Amino acid sequence: MSKKIVLAYSGGLDTSVAIKWLRDKGFDVIACLVDVGQKGDFEKAKSKAKKIGASKIYVVDAKDEFAKEFILPALKADAVYEDKYFLATALSRPLIAKALADVAKKEGARYVSHGCTGKGNDQVRIEVSLEALASGLSVIAPLREWEFKSRNQELAYAKKHNIPVEATKKSPYSLDENLWGVSIECGVLENPSKEPPKDAYQITKDPKNTPAKPLYLTIGFEKGIPKTINGRKYKPVDLISKLSKIGADYGIGRSDMIENRLVGIKSREIYEAPAAYMLHTAHKELEALVLDRELSHFKELIAQKYSELIYYGLWYSPLKKSLDKFIDDTQKRVTGQIRLKLYKGSCTVVGRKSKNSLYKEELATYSEKDTFDHKAAEGFIKIWGLPYRRQS
Ligand code: ARG
Repeated sequence: MSKKIVLAYSGGLDTSVAIKWLRDKGFDVIACLVDVGQKGDFEKAKSKAKKIGASKIYVVDAKDEFAKEFILPALKADAVYEDKYFLATALSRPLIAKALADVAKKEGARYVSHGCTGKGNDQVRIEVSLEALASGLSVIAPLREWEFKSRNQELAYAKKHNIPVEATKKSPYSLDENLWGVSIECGVLENPSKEPPKDAYQITKDPKNTPAKPLYLTIGFEKGIPKTINGRKYKPVDLISKLSKIGADYGIGRSDMIENRLVGIKSREIYEAPAAYMLHTAHKELEALVLDRELSHFKELIAQKYSELIYYGLWYSPLKKSLDKFIDDTQKRVTGQIRLKLYKGSCTVVGRKSKNSLYKEELATYSEKDTFDHKAAEGFIKIWGLPYRRQS
């Protein structure tokens, strides 16, 4: 009997070719397609995998878990990598690893496989996650091993073995998409001095072609979790999808960056994350209103560390677990509403409200309602400045 291997399957060229390649190496291939909110025809992908030779196909609907257990913790942590990347791809990898481990256990498979390349972050994220979740599984990474030197060689192999390749016009970019955003690289984007061509962006409208009037909307949070849009309650997946659609229509959430990869190289990538942009903007603003200064500033340090843990594939690490406890504790006060204004690619905060607000108008005001003790400032300054008083 041949050895069972569970392959993280997307339906794209690489993992389709991988089915055939692994079979030729003597494996019984079980394909596992994890739905994290990417677009695509899963039925078609399923029949394609069957046709190429997978013995079984699992389609795992992980959208709900992705939103609740991966996206929301990252939002509560204010985790953004190098200021521009909301970590859509990075967040999905530990979840895909978990799905692989689950299917492997169910099937009694000792091997798992994925379609990540040898110079990216994703191989690290998936394999380190697997180490933490299910030690004893062996990983075969075809893209690190196989003989194809180029996409054309891979296409030729696909043709030779009757592996269906999408007839639709092939994107010149490498795309990764899920509920939280789209990551786009390769092609002309590899030249960092060039502006991304219009066709590089997949879901957001060019701000130039967005509505002439601004759109206002209010996001309601409870303990750091977004619950409502304009007062209407939504489940996490629905709330994120809805904001993503609205934001995309207003050209929100594009970024173009040079990032430091875990494997040492710098890469250029562009991102679209309308919902992530809006939710992070609103969440941070609400925190500014309800958290005291010291907690707020300390939390910023934690946010940086947390974003690195996600990016570096250390989701299932003890540090991440401990930080979650701290972050959850900070979120107890983060309840309130933030009003956003979307207009031609920009998303700005125009209003904030919370029963836990630490903003006191009677202290902040310059009008006659002022209750701040101006006299007390004098003593405060004297003592605060004491270490710096000139001696001569
Ligand atoms: N650079 C991003 C990361 O490491 C995204 C990687 C996948 N991007 C892609 N276009 N396939 O998380």
